[in-house]
Amino acid sequence: MTPLKNDTFLRALQRQPVDHTPLWLMRQAGRYLPEYCATRARAGSFLSLCKTPSLATEVTLQPLARYDLDAAILFSDILTVPDAMGLGLYFAEGEGPKFERPLRQEWEIRDLQAPDPHDHLGYVMDAVSEIRRALDGSVPLIGFSGSPFTLSCYMVEGEGSDTYARVKTLMYSRPDLMHHILDVTTRAVIDYLNAQIEAGAQAVMVFDSWGGMLSQAAYLEFSLPYMARIMAGLTRERDGRTVPRIVFTKGGGLWLDRIADCGADAVGLDWTIEIGEARQRVGDRVALQGNMDPSILLTTPEAVATEARRILASYGHGNGHVFNLGHGISQFTPPENVAVLVETVRAESRQYHAS
Ligand code: CP3
Repeated sequence: MTPLKNDTFLRALQRQPVDHTPLWLMRQAGRYLPEYCATRARAGSFLSLCKTPSLATEVTLQPLARYDLDAAILFSDILTVPDAMGLGLYFAEGEGPKFERPLRQEWEIRDLQAPDPHDHLGYVMDAVSEIRRALDGSVPLIGFSGSPFTLSCYMVEGEGSDTYARVKTLMYSRPDLMHHILDVTTRAVIDYLNAQIEAGAQAVMVFDSWGGMLSQAAYLEFSLPYMARIMAGLTRERDGRTVPRIVFTKGGGLWLDRIADCGADAVGLDWTIEIGEARQRVGDRVALQGNMDPSILLTTPEAVATEARRILASYGHGNGHVFNLGHGISQFTPPENVAVLVETVRAESRQYHAS
């Protein structure tokens, strides 16, 4: 394999010295880019984009062609795993993701199996290999998965939800069944992420998008321990390099100390927590990734630059910061504002790494 030309992102995740703060953006390949919309139109749908490795490669590279980003992220979706478990993922036009066969009956839950990633998710592994070839060592490739809890939310509800009443009812009334879903999903995620690492992913991230709507007690029973199990089950080294792991619980700021001890190298933060204070709390246990409010990108170049500078200053001098948004980029973001963000972080972050 060609050596990496820019390993700033991998180094920052391990709190090693870098010359600038690396930056990538959650959902960096998405509908705010006209070229993404054009490829998606050619593909016919979001899912065929995910399932066609050459098209997934094309859209993964689009934001890197425009901006000086320090990492690429595999173009896919967290819900491909429950799809491979037989739940039947589909996207109704103008609506979010849905499952044809959500988990409703006890026997459906008991029948759930962890899929072999090479059989059922081969298109993801093919995309990872093809993206690595296309990147040609320019920047590292991030692989990812949903957390067992977040995947379970969609598997039980059958779609997104404002209240998550179904999954919470199951969790509180039949914790044994909820733990069974989480256990099978955890095994699936470990196999899936290890297959991505085998295929060429150089860092991995677990998205726990809905963990933050749990009580602390429920989070510590139904979400965090399963992410810790994933961390313990992941391949640590590949091609002589550490494969760093990031966990991101949206809304998890209150539990930062516990999250920092789950075995991840880095913790993703949403925008509700002040990153400088978060750094004091975690000390040198983990790196931090975040945490600009994506809504700022909807405003003006001046506001974007000011907020980027504020976040860099809040984290302060030294290692262990990966700049990102606190959640995915909005489809209504003007691409010019992203250019301002990338340029500002690149130029202004150097002062925090000078010795
Ligand atoms: O970050 C990246 O650029 C990589 C690609 C990526 C996508 N989804 C592409 C996508 C990643 C990492 C995800 C993760 C994902 N998917 C999460 C966790 C992160 C988060 O946002 O909290 C979740 C909860 C999902 C499930 C999902 N997929 C939802 C709720 C939606 C609809 C939301 C929307 O914006 O319409 C999707 C669809 C989706 N996944 C899109 C993209 C680019 C939009 C699809 C389109 O082109 O219409």
